[in-house]
This record gives sequence, structure tokens and C-alpha cells, in this order.
Amino acid sequence: MKVYAINGSPRKNKNTATLLQKALDGVKEAAKDKKIETEIINLYDLNYTGCKSCFACKRLGGKSYGKCAIKDDIHEVLEKVSQADGLIFGSPIYFGNITGQLLSFLERLLFPYLVYDKNHSTIPPKKMPTAFIYTMNAPEEYMEKGGYLSNFNNFESILGHILTKPLVMYSNNTYQFDDYSKYKADLFSEEEKAEHKKMQFPLDCQRAFELGASLIK
Ligand SMILES: Cc1cc2nc3c(=O)[nH]c(=O)nc-3n(C[C@H](O)[C@H](O)[C@H](O)COP(=O)(O)O)c2cc1C
Repeated sequence: MKVYAINGSPRKNKNTATLLQKALDGVKEAAKDKKIETEIINLYDLNYTGCKSCFACKRLGGKSYGKCAIKDDIHEVLEKVSQADGLIFGSPIYFGNITGQLLSFLERLLFPYLVYDKNHSTIPPKKMPTAFIYTMNAPEEYMEKGGYLSNFNNFESILGHILTKPLVMYSNNTYQFDDYSKYKADLFSEEEKAEHKKMQFPLDCQRAFELGASLIK
């Protein structure tokens, strides 16, 4: 069995990556008796684009029907994640949405599985459990009132239609810089951010662990 965490952050050891690792730790813990491998895929290490609208994935009788035909760094990654036993997507929020890198990845992963027929049929090779972890500066109230949730719901419903409805968690009010005093960032109170990081982030890590564990159960 194999579960992948897809890191949509350019940073490999900050908020999103940390929570994804905790989620994978939860997967390992829950699957103790089964042989299970986990892996983080750092999207920003890979050179690729979003969908190019070539429609090779929809060409009748074509050799790429139902698959992405573009041969770049994620060609094999798409192949292996489509056979996974679980997928956990993680993204920082940029301008109220998931990162462009993750969006491009989702276009390439999901569009080939969507059939242009009256039933909106889907043809993924496997329907594995999925999860989404979002991290952002915005506190929970702002996320709710600022329209973020409708953006998130959009991807969650596409994912739910094509693969499975994702488990979801948010980590709000994240700590962005190593040292706030070195940056122009007086929008934020460093003291309040540090307190949140100390008190809330460990709880978010625990929630990510539990999300990983429930993905496998
Ligand atoms: C280009 C850019 C745009 C951002 N836009 C938002 C935003 O619209 N809303 C928000 O809450 N945070 C925003 N952030 C903050 C990040 O979402 C937040 O710091 C996140 O937790 C970073 O994740 P990481 O530590 O894994 O890189 C933005 C950060 C960057 C670099």
C-alpha cells in the first residue's frame, strides 16, 4: 500500500510540509499491521505546466485516452499517484486560493478522468481516499467571512466527483517568517503570531495526525 502527500508549498519544512508529514505519521500509525509506504512529493521540485488543452486524453481511440499525454516531470508522478491507496494534498493559500503549482497538478491529474458525456462520467483507474490540508495567514473568522471556503469547496467537489470526497483541515494564522523583525509586516503582531504558533500549531499537528489516521481507517 502507498499513500502520497502532495506538497503544494515551495517550502519543504514550513507549515504545509510539517502538517503533511504529521498526516503521513498518522497514516503509518493507523496502518501499523499493514505494510504501508508513505512519500511526500514536493511539487516545486518538478518542472511542469498545467493542462495544455491538447485533448489527447479525450481523443477517441487515442493511446492517451483517459491519461495525460504531456511528457514532463510529472508524467510518471501522475501515473504512480493514480494507483495510490491514499492522497493527501496540502497547500498554502495564495490570494485566497490553492497555489498555482497545485492547481496545475490537479488539472493534469483530474481532467483526463472527466468524460465529456451527459452523465459527467468519470474514469479514474482507482478511487482512493483523499484529504486536503490548507494553511494560511488568515484567522478562521476571516477565512469564513472572506469567501475562502467557496474557493476551497470548488476543488473539494471536483475531487469528490472524480476520486473521493476529501477529509479537510485548515491551519489558520500561520507563522510566515523566521524572524518578523527583519521584514516589513506590521499588519501582523509578531507577539500574537508567536503565541498562536506555540499554542495552536501543535494542536494543528495533532489534527493532521488524526486526519492521516482516519484516511486509512
Ligand atoms: C504569494 C503569497 C500569497 C499569499 N496570500 C495569502 C492569502 O491570500 N491569504 C492568506 O491567508 N495567506 C496568504 N499567504 C500566506 C500563506 O498562505 C501562509 O503563510 C502559509 O501558511 C504558508 O505556507 P508554508 O509555510 O507551507 O509555505 C500568502 C503567501 C504568499 C507567499
